[in-house]
Amino acid sequence: MRDAADVLANVRRGMLPAHIYNDPEVFIAEKERLFSRSWAFVAHESEVPQVGDYVVRRVLDNSFIVSRDQAGEVRAMFNMCLHRGMQVCRAEQGNASHFRCPYHGWSYRNDGRIVGLPFHQEAYGGEEGFTRKGQRLLPAPSLDSYNGLIFVSMDPDAPPLREFLGDFAFYLDYYTKQSASGVEVLGPQRWRIKANWKIGAENFAGDMYHTPQTHTSVVEIGLFREPKAEKRKDGNTYWAGRGGGTTYKLPPGTFEERLAYVGYPAEMIERMRAQWSPEQVDVIGRDGFMISAASVFPNLSLVHNWPKVADTDDVLPFISLRQWQPISENETEVLSWFVVDKEAPESFKKLSYKAYLMCFGSSGMFEQDDVENWVSLTNMAGGTMARRLLLNGRMGMLHDGTTFVPALTPEEFAGPGEARVGYGEYNQRHLLDLWANHLEMPPLATTPILIGGPAAAPADPVEVVS
Ligand code: FES
Ligand SMILES: [Fe+2]
Repeated sequence: MRDAADVLANVRRGMLPAHIYNDPEVFIAEKERLFSRSWAFVAHESEVPQVGDYVVRRVLDNSFIVSRDQAGEVRAMFNMCLHRGMQVCRAEQGNASHFRCPYHGWSYRNDGRIVGLPFHQEAYGGEEGFTRKGQRLLPAPSLDSYNGLIFVSMDPDAPPLREFLGDFAFYLDYYTKQSASGVEVLGPQRWRIKANWKIGAENFAGDMYHTPQTHTSVVEIGLFREPKAEKRKDGNTYWAGRGGGTTYKLPPGTFEERLAYVGYPAEMIERMRAQWSPEQVDVIGRDGFMISAASVFPNLSLVHNWPKVADTDDVLPFISLRQWQPISENETEVLSWFVVDKEAPESFKKLSYKAYLMCFGSSGMFEQDDVENWVSLTNMAGGTMARRLLLNGRMGMLHDGTTFVPALTPEEFAGPGEARVGYGEYNQRHLLDLWANHLEMPPLATTPILIGGPAAAPADPVEVVS
């Protein structure tokens, strides 16, 4: 990457070289240094509930089969045939005890072990020519889960997922652990946008500032109970561990009253109180903050909101999980799931899904508003003039680097990490700091894995043609 030291130094002081949002060299560095190491979300356990269930998901350009094997264990296997490299499973999801490669017909159990190799004896001379025993589709180097969210990492030495998430796990529970049963997901809807992947992640992490402007029309048409989008500035932003997000400030009330205010039925509120720690309860009940959007580094985001779903003033909450899957420096595949508590009443699930579809997903109003901006930003960032521009990403910080809004004390905000009321690009800077740290790391070294051949170098002389 050209001028890497300058680029990273500028990013770290909140001055953003505009081209990082559309630069093939930056994208290569991200691939080799960032996505080669960090944890990447691939699926939720509720997408593979039964033995044999599978979904096919990507981490950048690597395809993985995420399956529940015959023993009930969740696996993530590199979807490349061990023979000549064909993509083994071409369907997006399904249920199968085996996968057969379409090219020459090698077949694999749903735990990755090779079972069928046509003409093994005639073509290879049996085990002596190709040792079948012990061969399996390459497992993802690391696999771990939290609240049913399955992540993989290309780094075999990745820290445990819980450690990676750090204190952000506290906030992740609001979205993914509203009862002892956890959540189920529906989707994903998938579509591509001509925008750089970082923009969505930054937006969801902390951009409360865009709501009054970008989403004016959503408020104007009366989708929300609150008449003014400016209410956003009464909420806070928080950052903890590997993620951060935004909240809305709710009117006075108890934990129960405030959750009822955003539309949760009493039985769900009861389960949340039983499920969450006293501090998790206090963020809502004592401090009056309700979680909204958030991002986990590098490219997973969440959102929780409560629009009106009928011609009354009643609102209903929904949760969405979304991934900004990079395709290139200027294209992203968005995967958007609807998330709901497994124990929620069926009527709630139905209306919550409607609320989600109105706001997010490929036809959601927020989604449409947002993406127009992100595509435009990406286009602008691809030109040569963008190389001369350092964007100002310092909101909330004075010239001397100090912040002028005090951090909330534990008495004001019970959640971990650092939180501040009002607008500020603290979280976007945190994300980009992590991004800069990764871009400074060397590309991850990899050792090829031997498939069924001799362990040592071939004995016969190799003819070298000069
Ligand atoms: S490439 Fe899969 S069987 Fe040959
Ligand atoms: Fe938005």
